[in-house]
Amino acid sequence: MSVNVAIAGATGAVGEEFLRLLELRSYPIKSLRLLASARSAGRKLMFAGREYTVEELKADSFKGVEHAFFSAGGSISKEFAPHAAKAGAIIIDNTSAFRYEPEIPLVIPEINPKDAFEYGARRIIANPNCTTIVALLPTYPLHKQFGLKRAVMSSYQAISGAGAQAMAELEQQTRDWAAGKPLTVKIAPKQIAFNVIPRIDAFQENGYTKEELKFLWEGRKIMHHTTLRATATCVRVPVMRSHSVSLNLEFEKACTPEAAREILRNAPGVIVQDDPKTELYPIPLERSLKDEIGVGRIRQDISIDDNRGLCLWAVGDQIMKGAALNAIQIGELLLKQGR
Ligand SMILES: NC(=O)c1ccc[n+]([C@@H]2O[C@H](COP(=O)([O-])OP(=O)(O)OC[C@H]3O[C@@H](n4cnc5c(N)ncnc54)[C@H](OP(=O)(O)O)[C@@H]3O)[C@@H](O)[C@H]2O)c1
Repeated sequence: MSVNVAIAGATGAVGEEFLRLLELRSYPIKSLRLLASARSAGRKLMFAGREYTVEELKADSFKGVEHAFFSAGGSISKEFAPHAAKAGAIIIDNTSAFRYEPEIPLVIPEINPKDAFEYGARRIIANPNCTTIVALLPTYPLHKQFGLKRAVMSSYQAISGAGAQAMAELEQQTRDWAAGKPLTVKIAPKQIAFNVIPRIDAFQENGYTKEELKFLWEGRKIMHHTTLRATATCVRVPVMRSHSVSLNLEFEKACTPEAAREILRNAPGVIVQDDPKTELYPIPLERSLKDEIGVGRIRQDISIDDNRGLCLWAVGDQIMKGAALNAIQIGELLLKQGR
């Protein structure tokens, strides 16, 4: 079975990754449409040794399209996903536009693959937030075994999470700093070079940012764990690619770091990198361009009674598993069922 594919947002950071991974994974593509804003119309992009011309995304861009990957921002998804659905496409959306609507499935294939088939008449499947994916892949297998009660997540998020222009800004600020020139701040809320910024996405009335609340909202929905308690602090760091998270997990049952390592060694999408004696723990520079979420620094949380707590450190390439790869894996689930 091969399908007609469209990528809305093909010229962006996630779009570029879609092109690389669709080719690498030999996604069975019959035809491919690359869509972006009017600014990029006419630009040439290479896919599988062939040149494709980027077209302006319009309401009628989806004629004949079967799988439509969206990564052009939430407002664009809201406007154009219904047109793609009307044309008969199944939409796999990387933005936060639909994630919190009860009837829209929110899927990490290693955790809740069956939900992908519940896209219904709206024909939309949402891809979770990138930090949520990095945090939940190691958390879920431990939850299944020990029963997760509460999670505290602190993130260290790469600048590429804010898109291609933000990556260029970090690079330019670093060059200007080295040359002794004044730095320009346009995309991130503050200078990101040689700095950390404790604000990602918009502030909410309760003092959290939206990014921080996504972990709770999405964690409950993906793990089908409606009573989960969770809190997060999300921080942008001057790392080009791959998000890191520190997790403090409190469980119903007692657990040990040894048991957790064994469970995670057998968990899909996760690789255990945990040996303090040999300096083995996952870091962004080494997890970039890798499929799996690396997990290490696994230890008993000494602040929780009865050995019911664990601390972990997880790192994953958020443009890959946090976005394009996860979306493509959802598409592959559909293909296996002939959809
Ligand atoms: N970066 C990540 O790690 C990551 C991870 C998970 C989810 N996401 C989500 O994925 C989406 C894209 O992120 P990104 O990092 O790839 O951003 P980006 O690098 O800024 O790329 C944005 C893409 O959207 C296109 N676009 C912008 N305005 C448009 C319009 N009016 N009509 C059609 N296309 C338009 C851009 O086209 P032009 O080049 O023509 O402007 C570009 O292709 C966002 O919703 C983001 O939250 C990103």
